[in-house]
Amino acid sequence: MTINAKQQTDVDLREMMLGLNTLVRLADGRKVPAINFDNAATTPPFKQVAEEIQAKLLCYGSIGRGKGQKSAYSTRVYENGRCVVKEFLCANQPKYTVFYTNNTTDGMNKLASALLENRRDIVLTTRMEHHANDLPWRERTRTVYAEVDAKGRLLMGDIERLLKAYKGRIKYVAVTAASNVTGYVNDVHKIAKIAHRHGAQIIVDGAQIVAHRPFSMLSPHKAGDDIDYFVFSAHKMYSPYGGGAVVGLRKSLNKHIPEFYGGGMVEQVTDDDVIFAAAPDCYEAGSPNDPGVVGMLKAMKMLKQIGFNYVKDHEQRLLKKVLRDLKAIPGVLLYGDNENIADRVGIIVFNLAGISDGEVAEKLAQCAGIAVRHAKFCAHPYVDRLLKQHASCLSGGAHTGMVRVSFGIYNTEAEADCLIETIKSLLRGKEPHFFCTGYKSSGLSGASKLPHDRG
Ligand code: ALA
Repeated sequence: MTINAKQQTDVDLREMMLGLNTLVRLADGRKVPAINFDNAATTPPFKQVAEEIQAKLLCYGSIGRGKGQKSAYSTRVYENGRCVVKEFLCANQPKYTVFYTNNTTDGMNKLASALLENRRDIVLTTRMEHHANDLPWRERTRTVYAEVDAKGRLLMGDIERLLKAYKGRIKYVAVTAASNVTGYVNDVHKIAKIAHRHGAQIIVDGAQIVAHRPFSMLSPHKAGDDIDYFVFSAHKMYSPYGGGAVVGLRKSLNKHIPEFYGGGMVEQVTDDDVIFAAAPDCYEAGSPNDPGVVGMLKAMKMLKQIGFNYVKDHEQRLLKKVLRDLKAIPGVLLYGDNENIADRVGIIVFNLAGISDGEVAEKLAQCAGIAVRHAKFCAHPYVDRLLKQHASCLSGGAHTGMVRVSFGIYNTEAEADCLIETIKSLLRGKEPHFFCTGYKSSGLSGASKLPHDRG
């Protein structure tokens, strides 16, 4: 059941999350509930995800390797989970299969190790990518890159230009669905259409989209323009237990074997020969991370129940508010296009005049318990381009990285206000002494202690 906007206002999403009341110690010794604006890196768990794992562990047994009742039960949940993943991504067609991974990086490396046949295979990727969708290709074969424009948006025309220039020799187009730096959402179905027209398959890095927008493997245009492979992590969708998956074309995956060998991925092994199992099994060597899968499946159900309309509206509201407030502060330099934000998930990157990105991140944590990420976000070429394009706009010395704020479904306007006030204080050169109390769940009583609080 999807919760509509009115009902949603009655549902305290914060109550659905684990750990939001946990206190952290500030530099002056006070303890406050942490504010997490680092959701693009990792999200806190849904309580129900943790409960589901706990419950399923009572019946935990080896996956696909035993006849015991617990083993049979765990195997059934694990195998049926592939359909849950397919449904979540509108990939409910026999042409697709699902293999589980540890995270997006793991999925990309497995795909790259399997799909690339030799060093003559060319992969087209982009200058917007996270290293997870660049290095697995770059280190194994020849890569060419579509550029970004002055605001950091992907140049769609460059994709077609490269595909034409290489005359059918580009085998794969590997592109992110949403940037982990600027939050731009790419029209990957349009890219699929272009790639297919030139005989290439498309691989989509879905890490930053799965918890933010509904995603369909199927094209809104025509069947032949569906996405070929989609890779994502569970820890960015409120299930931080080491899960992830790749949804991909069964037939193509069956033509290849990844460079990961061991138990569970073979039909038969003799002294001299190996007969590999079909996909997905041949992509899952070794005993799998069953709790990771259980958590991911539950998180998918929860996100569907909350509804992506709510998720998107909530993020856009926070994005608009924080951008408006940041723009009003002299000394804040924002990167990317901060006027047209409809094609962005809830991510903002900025710098403060005269303060390094590392110092800003450290001060936000130490003065107000606000967690952000800083530096280059595992997307060095992209961040370098954005820094260069904005280099002359800010006095107070060159910046070598950025500060990133990224929103989750549970973040509040009160938390955003705390961020803004802390930034103002930092720019005034004062150590701010306040913390956010404007949300229901910030009560200090009963909050669990962090390890350094023991004793
Ligand atoms: N990919 C994650 C990030 O952008 C870790 O922070």
